[in-house]
Amino acid sequence: MSSSRAGIANGLTDYGDRDFSLYLRRSFAQSMGYSRAMLEKPVVGIAYTASGFNNCHRHFPELLEAVKRGVLAAGALPLEFPTVSLGEVFLNPTSLKFRNLMAMDTEEMIRAQPMDAVVLMGGCDKTVPAQLMGAVSAGRPAIALVAGPMMTARHRGERLGACTDCRRFWAQYRAGKVDDNEIQEVESKLATTAGTCAVMGTASTMACLAEALGMTLPGTAAIPAVHADRLRAAEATGVAAVRLVGSALTPDKIINARSIENALRVLLAIGGSTNAVIHLTAIAGRAGVPVSLQRLNELSDTTPVLVNLKPVGNGYMEDFFAAGGLGAVLRELKDLLHLDVMTVTGETLGERLAQDVAYVDRTIIAARETPLEPQGGLIALFGNLAPKGAILKRSAADSRLFEHEGRAVVFSSLEDLAARIDDPALDVAADDILVLQNAGPHSAVAMPEAGYLPIPKKLAARGVKDMVRVSDARMSGTAFGTVVLHVTPDAASGGPLGLVRSGDRIRLSVKERRIDLLVDEAQLRRRAAAAAAAPAPPARGYAKLYAEQILGADEGCDFAFLRPH
Ligand code: FES
Repeated sequence: MSSSRAGIANGLTDYGDRDFSLYLRRSFAQSMGYSRAMLEKPVVGIAYTASGFNNCHRHFPELLEAVKRGVLAAGALPLEFPTVSLGEVFLNPTSLKFRNLMAMDTEEMIRAQPMDAVVLMGGCDKTVPAQLMGAVSAGRPAIALVAGPMMTARHRGERLGACTDCRRFWAQYRAGKVDDNEIQEVESKLATTAGTCAVMGTASTMACLAEALGMTLPGTAAIPAVHADRLRAAEATGVAAVRLVGSALTPDKIINARSIENALRVLLAIGGSTNAVIHLTAIAGRAGVPVSLQRLNELSDTTPVLVNLKPVGNGYMEDFFAAGGLGAVLRELKDLLHLDVMTVTGETLGERLAQDVAYVDRTIIAARETPLEPQGGLIALFGNLAPKGAILKRSAADSRLFEHEGRAVVFSSLEDLAARIDDPALDVAADDILVLQNAGPHSAVAMPEAGYLPIPKKLAARGVKDMVRVSDARMSGTAFGTVVLHVTPDAASGGPLGLVRSGDRIRLSVKERRIDLLVDEAQLRRRAAAAAAAPAPPARGYAKLYAEQILGADEGCDFAFLRPH
């Protein structure tokens, strides 16, 4: 009997007799048709997230074959295992509620099963952060492989891609400019291939950040899902995973304060999704690294926006890939990055970026000297309405609203919003500020992407395209507008957002990085004292765990007990 404790012999099932455990495991593994010789090889686990409820991962069977090919060619045994998969539009109330469940599943299955390294196959919004969180905590060598973005389609001569165009056409439909027939036509053309949303939404942002962190192979974030290069990247990822076998290069060595700061820079430069602030904070938190929103503002002041993709600009992810991809962005930012950080291939980031690329399409990836915006796409706001911070994607907002004071029009919940936003009798004007309460992480709806409050129909019909909107919710990475998000503490945990009443004045100042409720303290104290008691928490299951453990947006909405102590 071999005494080896690597490969299939890793972490034996406990029967009180180790040799018996190994004998039994080999026997059962052989029932799957593996030879004894194959079972002597190192094992590369593949966290596999294909699901009938995840359209973005529909090409994963083919991608999995390519990963396995790479693992086998490099001399190891590939064994895939299923985990929770999160298809963004198929989950109620919202996928964020289940990100931590997927992270727990990923962490525990990596740790409990016999694997020497793991490939993390993710893509749709929450899957990549969940896998990285789990992998950091699991402490095994890991490499990420992302799904890649969808291709665009055509509609009456123009390009369509999920999901900035989804919102654009829906806004036109609400304003009566697109009829029922056309919206149905558009519906069938928004998402036509496998892969993640076609713009710089949350999924593409997280793919870029996974590459910026050094957790993927270089140059792989933007390869379209259906491109042959994506399969070659999958094969190469399998090979790279085998090289990690026996290595001490675990994700917690790659993800540290310096690589997280690099990722924040990249997030700002690509005009990435607001959701990424939460996810990066959660990933960093697993490595014991705090993310400060004050530091985000400092970085934002000195990081230009370089990438001209929707929702901030014009292009789509397939253009980004053809333009040079994330590598071209990283090279532009080189002097702002920590180049000594280690990546999953064993090279430093500086070594990855040592070679210049032959071609960069400057209509999509701007040079540092001629950026799209001189400062970063995201800023954090503070003030008496958001003592622990809020986020504004200024690159996707209307700069005419950056210094704005207005009357609050308050919706106390998502139901209240749905019931009244289009009511012709709603007392609302274009310079009012729409406020949504009880949509944060501690609410029953678990912080959905509802912060992009629709413009009230009667204002939309008059041509109003943007208003200041404030909430404790999130916003889809594909959305745009002057939308203040992630107000922390949230209303459901007793934050001041819950004390706003219709008719109050609110002041937004991007220049001062502030969002303030212009109501005196004594009045707010009276409102707090009169506030209704919180609803009873869920009695069982994951909802109970969520309610007991969820942290605020400033701590990445992770569970308290999953953070390192
Ligand atoms: Fe999966 Fe957009 S729905 S990335």
